[in-house]
Amino acid sequence: MKLVFASSNPNKLKEIIAIAPPNIQIVGLKELGFEGELEETQTTIEGNSLQKAEFISSKFNVPCFAEDTGLEIEALNNEPGVYSARYAGKKEGFIDNVAKVLTKMEGIKNRKAQFKTVITYYNQGKYVQFEGITEGEITLERHGEGGFGYDCIFIPLNSGKTYAEMTQNEKNRLSHRKKSFEKFANHLAALSVL
Ligand code: IMP
Repeated sequence: MKLVFASSNPNKLKEIIAIAPPNIQIVGLKELGFEGELEETQTTIEGNSLQKAEFISSKFNVPCFAEDTGLEIEALNNEPGVYSARYAGKKEGFIDNVAKVLTKMEGIKNRKAQFKTVITYYNQGKYVQFEGITEGEITLERHGEGGFGYDCIFIPLNSGKTYAEMTQNEKNRLSHRKKSFEKFANHLAALSVL
């Protein structure tokens, strides 16, 4: 089946295409003719995920799914969380967001953190959500060149290296995004739509 993915983030699109099983063809927003940024104005990851899925589904009258992801750091009261994309300010990018985390974590022994993804599948006014969590630790400094966002400072439990030091396949085997997508795909299979 074809599935519209409501995301304007090319890194996420790449990962979702690689994660999706062969019987799911992912359709990006460009293919749908939408080039803009999607609004994320809610105060929770669940809320932002729903906002994006509902917007695209209603605008184009198609079933679609969206995801929202946050990095939750225990010692920072789960910051940056829902504000992960704009932690250092609205106009700042990955480099500044990562720098802000490392600065705030200076001298802190508890490095526990988790990535949380919530996928929302929105279809004809109804929706379901699927959560994926990967636990790990925040490094003392950046490691690795791959991936995007906070990948270079996050080591998943028992993996010994950051997401950014992994190949795309390695990250996709254990990532928060993969876990939420797997639940979503199982849901579609149970509905017999795959
Ligand atoms: P959003 O889900 O588009 O709001 O993304 C939140 C921010 O979290 C993004 O701008 C990225 O910086 C970061 N992010 C999302 N997913 C990942 C990931 O898989 N690895 C590292 N950073 C991520």
